Amino acid sequence: MRNFSDPNYLKNQQYSSADNLNARIRIHQLFSTNPKGVYKWFFDHALANIPQHASILEVGSGSGELWYVCKDDVPAGWDVTLSDFAIGILNDAKKKLEHVLFKPEFREIDVQNIPYPDETFDAVFANFMLYHVPDRQKAIAEIRRVLKPDGVVLAATLGKAHMQEYHHLISGILLDENLQHDIIAHAFGLENGEAQLRQSFSQVEMILYEDSLRVTEVEPMVDYFLSLGLPTITSEHVEKFTQAMRDIIEKNGAFEIYKHTGMFIGRGYAR
Ligand SMILES: C[S@@+](CC[C@H](N)C(=O)[O-])C[C@H]1O[C@@H](n2cnc3c(N)ncnc32)[C@H](O)[C@@H]1O
Repeated sequence: MRNFSDPNYLKNQQYSSADNLNARIRIHQLFSTNPKGVYKWFFDHALANIPQHASILEVGSGSGELWYVCKDDVPAGWDVTLSDFAIGILNDAKKKLEHVLFKPEFREIDVQNIPYPDETFDAVFANFMLYHVPDRQKAIAEIRRVLKPDGVVLAATLGKAHMQEYHHLISGILLDENLQHDIIAHAFGLENGEAQLRQSFSQVEMILYEDSLRVTEVEPMVDYFLSLGLPTITSEHVEKFTQAMRDIIEKNGAFEIYKHTGMFIGRGYAR
């Protein structure tokens, strides 16, 4: 099994701390052309779809970046629980959110077995995580089960064309067409996520987020490349990638990368 769908690799290596995810978030913070930012965009939709008094569970919450970025926008009536199956990254989220006023709960949870009774939450957030989950139908059914009848799931994810210029570059360097990104986008992406959610939800809408990267520095992209923990990467690959980035930026002034990102909002019960 490849890394990004291997739960042991995810828990014990890739997400044993927030470091890898932070390296990936960093390039979006530094180089995104849309100044809004994906977390603020997501949160606007959350605010528009969830009542002012609500109980919210995030599954696969990672480093808690969503809540850190939006900490001043959280309604006083929201009761928030962040969860992740990787205890290392969950502890980093706890530290990061130590001083926020909305005082979230933190729980170690595998989305395939959510340890709450039926109809507990008004909303569940599942951002950039369902593509990692081996039994996705079970995970989605679990999310539906713990939602109240009129509850809502919000799930951001990527599409196949996400960062295609970057993936094209690294597939040339690694001589590997079978990259993690392809596996991720094929598992639960913008192209096939709706059909999967419709197994448990009667209404699903997709909203796209317009954005791209204009990368003008080499080093954050090298960190991004390394953060993926690709099993076959060598120092020669890193050197080649670094040189290729230098060349592109020198020649064009920047490396332009398209982003294909969006979210699904699901409600109701599938029959
Ligand atoms: C790409 S990160 C996304 C983090 C966060 N949602 C965000 O948008 O910044 C994916 C997260 O999903 C978690 N994850 C993967 N499989 C999981 C599972 N079966 N149950 C719960 N969390 C899982 C990982 O540990 C990781 O923290």
